[in-house]
Amino acid sequence: MLIHGASGGVGSYAVQIAKAFGAVVTGVCRAPNQAMVLALGADHVSDLGPADLRRQAQRFDLIVDTAAFRSIRSWLPLLTPAGTYVLVGGDFSRLLRALLLGPLFSRLRRRKVVVVMQQPKRADLLVLKELVEAGQLRPWIDGRYPLDKLPDAVRRLEARQVKGKLAIEI
Ligand SMILES: NC(=O)c1ccc[n+]([C@@H]2O[C@H](COP(=O)([O-])OP(=O)(O)OC[C@H]3O[C@@H](n4cnc5c(N)ncnc54)[C@H](OP(=O)(O)O)[C@@H]3O)[C@@H](O)[C@H]2O)c1
Repeated sequence: MLIHGASGGVGSYAVQIAKAFGAVVTGVCRAPNQAMVLALGADHVSDLGPADLRRQAQRFDLIVDTAAFRSIRSWLPLLTPAGTYVLVGGDFSRLLRALLLGPLFSRLRRRKVVVVMQQPKRADLLVLKELVEAGQLRPWIDGRYPLDKLPDAVRRLEARQVKGKLAIEI
């Protein structure tokens, strides 16, 4: 599978969960973040966009996009014939488009387009708890801030300077 935004708050968990379930994972992120994504367990890393990845002739059963800032259609040729593209986050208009057009894409191309709207469920949280206890899932904390420095933390996030998560101490 491919995880776009693998170095982010969501992506850093997605890489570890995918590995715990036995997937072969390619993490897509900017070059300075690649060592971190490999340290989380990804098998391969890349800073290429979908057009360049397509030229490498590799195809994926599953694409998880936590940073959908470009056309969803650009990712679909990277899927295997019955593959699935999962939009988790990114640009709001892309999310709306995927919600509205996803069923149409899925019908026309066989490849599925789905939007994840995560609702915490006890059964899922228990699976995550087991992974944490087994040492297979951990937060990647890039910095700690006291509550009164929260604006600084948000500024760093907005400037795309954070790997994984920031922790706020209360
Ligand atoms: N659907 C749901 O249930 C759900 C739940 C939680 C969060 N979300 C959404 O998921 C998205 C990701 O959340 P997050 O906490 O992982 O965010 P984040 O920590 O900011 O991570 C996003 C990652 O995407 C990469 N990226 C690629 N292009 C980008 C761009 N143009 N601008 C910013 N980042 C870009 C960045 O990595 P590189 O710099 O290495 O490329 C960044 O680390 C957000 O839109 C959030 O609202 C959805």
